[in-house]
Amino acid sequence: MSTSVSLPACYALFEGYPTVEDYMHLRRASGLTPMNAHQAAAAVSGAWHGCYVAETTSPTKAVAMGRIIGDGGWYFVIADMAVLPEHQRRGLGDAILKTLMERIRTHAAKGDAYVTLFADIAGRRLYEKNGFKEAMPREMGMDIVLKDVGTSASERDLAR
Ligand SMILES: CC(C)(COP(=O)(O)OP(=O)(O)OC[C@H]1O[C@@H](n2cnc3c(N)ncnc32)[C@H](O)[C@@H]1OP(=O)(O)O)[C@@H](O)C(=O)NCCC(=O)NCCS
Repeated sequence: MSTSVSLPACYALFEGYPTVEDYMHLRRASGLTPMNAHQAAAAVSGAWHGCYVAETTSPTKAVAMGRIIGDGGWYFVIADMAVLPEHQRRGLGDAILKTLMERIRTHAAKGDAYVTLFADIAGRRLYEKNGFKEAMPREMGMDIVLKDVGTSASERDLAR
């Protein structure tokens, strides 16, 4: 289903998620941390909402995407903002972000919504233009990458 943000005529925006293959390609080609097929399968079926852009000549092949991971109540995390390099700087990222934000405005529980993201350098201006502000010094973003998850404690012991 297309939505009503403005895009160059050769593109269309769809609600939903790219295929696992397109998702893996989008992350790798746009310079984000590559995902394996297990991670990708979980990602494209595990979000609160997502959208992607495809060329009108090839509507099932995503060239740009974004997702919201959230609980529908208060917490909403913008993730996987990615545009293939040959399609960047044409307004696709902006259209995707505006679509995701509008989805929160129209479908989240009544009240306020806390929308967060971690901004790589390439995305900072885009996010600022859409109202995001640096959280420091009020709050500091923190993260951790847990290595080799998806196995039980006994399996990990055996592998040592
Ligand atoms: C960041 C990204 C999603 C932006 O998508 P895009 O379609 O190229 O962006 P748009 O054409 O909609 O541009 C919107 C605004 O973002 C900013 N912007 C876009 N690309 C930028 C870049 N490479 N460097 C600095 N600012 C950039 C600009 O302010 C731009 O507005 P302007 O063209 O009027 O100046 C895209 O460049 C991308 O996929 N980058 C690699 C992956 C990545 O870093 N993702 C963000 C993770 S937080």
